Amino acid sequence: MTEQRSTILGCSLGGLLLAFLALQSLPQSTEGSNILGVFTSHSTSHFIVHMSIMKTLAEKGHNVTVVSSVPPKVTHKSIKHIVIPLSEEEEKLIHGGMVDMVKQKPSIWTTMKSIFTSLAGLINKQVDTLEDKRFTDLYNNKDNKFDVVFVGFFFNTYQVGLSAKFNCPLIVSWMGQPMLMVNEIIGNPELSSVPQMSISVPAGKAMNFQQRLTNFLSSTGFRFLGKFLHFKYQGFYKRLWGDDKSMPSLEQAMKNVSLVFCNSHGISEGPIRPNVPALIEIGGIQVKSKPDPLPEDIKQFMDNSKNGVILFSLGSNLKGDHFNPEVVTTIFKTLSSLKQQVIWKWDDLETTPGKSANILYKKWLPQDDILAHPKLKLFITHAGKGGVAEAQYHGVPMLTLPVFADQPGNADKVVENGYGLRLELNSLEAKEFKETIKEIISNPKYAQKLETFSKLYRDRPQTAQELVVYWTEYVIRHHGAPHMQSPLVHMGTVASNNLDIYALVILALYLIFLVNKIVWKFLWKKCTGKSKKTAQNKKVKKQ
Ligand SMILES: *[C@@H]1O[C@H](CO)[C@@H](O)[C@H](O)[C@H]1NC(C)=O
Ligand SMILES: *[C@@H]1O[C@H](CO)[C@@H](O)[C@H](O)[C@H]1NC(C)=O
Repeated sequence: MTEQRSTILGCSLGGLLLAFLALQSLPQSTEGSNILGVFTSHSTSHFIVHMSIMKTLAEKGHNVTVVSSVPPKVTHKSIKHIVIPLSEEEEKLIHGGMVDMVKQKPSIWTTMKSIFTSLAGLINKQVDTLEDKRFTDLYNNKDNKFDVVFVGFFFNTYQVGLSAKFNCPLIVSWMGQPMLMVNEIIGNPELSSVPQMSISVPAGKAMNFQQRLTNFLSSTGFRFLGKFLHFKYQGFYKRLWGDDKSMPSLEQAMKNVSLVFCNSHGISEGPIRPNVPALIEIGGIQVKSKPDPLPEDIKQFMDNSKNGVILFSLGSNLKGDHFNPEVVTTIFKTLSSLKQQVIWKWDDLETTPGKSANILYKKWLPQDDILAHPKLKLFITHAGKGGVAEAQYHGVPMLTLPVFADQPGNADKVVENGYGLRLELNSLEAKEFKETIKEIISNPKYAQKLETFSKLYRDRPQTAQELVVYWTEYVIRHHGAPHMQSPLVHMGTVASNNLDIYALVILALYLIFLVNKIVWKFLWKKCTGKSKKTAQNKKVKKQ
């Protein structure tokens, strides 16, 4: 009787245990997770990419909160947005920095230099956002609980401390292809075969000697810059959380990043490189698979055009008064003399460069939807990564006028791949400008190249949106992803480059050489010593 009872009890206990185990092994639901996005960079184009990720997650039903220093252009009705704007004085500072950069001839070196000059203000300002009460309230209010926090990379690696601050996993979002300072965070290897973003190499080809030299110098330069920035980050980190004893060190926090989302698609855009599992490419996340309807005025303007439409936009960071007025006059003269219709992105609608029946000025444009319009013939662009990706996706040829940062590299890639041509904004001449526009519109080779690319770009096992949802929920489900972390994250410069092993090999070779030397000396002495002795002996005998 008692035995029977205990077996029954045993059975039901076993059953309960089984049921419990089964429950445990089911993937936990991540529905309606609390997600925080912290995007302190002042670049609108970067922000559009980050917000496209947030929007994708909000559409999936997650509870998304976003903190930023600029108001969003892309958003979703359920996203809670906290904007911590710049003061007027700070706006002026940034504006001045932009004007400086536009005046310089764009290259990787001016970009590096700008990190110490015009960009320095932007880098420093990001700390203020994290010090603002509207932000600190998020973690001081214990009712808030986040399941994952996103940080947009813009020379702000110290923000990885937010993982410990919010006690949740952290994902980094970067608006371009895998880049040295982002690779470093997750131990994605730097290889001599992989060109940095400023160097353009056609698919299936390797860099030539000069390119490899430039690549070596620029990656070495960036490494040193990284060391300098790290020193700065330590200062920021101390300023933000130096008093908090529960916070890990910056070095510890840097070893705890779960994933990096890169807005690139290596197999169609290049460069071809191996990526660690924590690097997820979501190239084109900002491109809508189905365009939204255009605003009525733009729609009419485009639909009614007989000879096609040209879109002219130098992005969201550059404003009209950043340029030399002569350049603006040249642009206006050229565009107003074309038979095509032109949509020109211009900030100050009160004072436009000039009136012309074929030009429509717009302060803000639904760029992606315009690029999707079948009558669009040409995109004149500063070659920001976002715009180039959208044009490539929709197969629109480009005339690039790069200004700074990654733009010259993007523009070179456009030319190298046959998607368009490049001119210098600062030395733009009317005749050359007009001829280049005519060439791109009339020669079908650019559009054909783009069509081939567009097919490759769209052919993927999962869309960018699906990847974002899957991997974010994966990180939430497993409370981070340390199991798939690259060991490189935990290796210093010495270990990751095998410097200690090379030192050991050199030491061993030297020891072998020393031993050899002693042995040979000894043998030599023995031989010559003996022969001398025997010679002496013989002499003695003769006497
Ligand atoms: C969404 O997240 C915020 C921040 O953690 C929280 O205050 C709010 O209650 C959440 N809303 C819902 C519906 O869960
Ligand atoms: C590491 O990440 C986990 C979540 O994955 C977080 O709870 C923890 O506080 C973080 N630790 C450090 C040292 O950043």
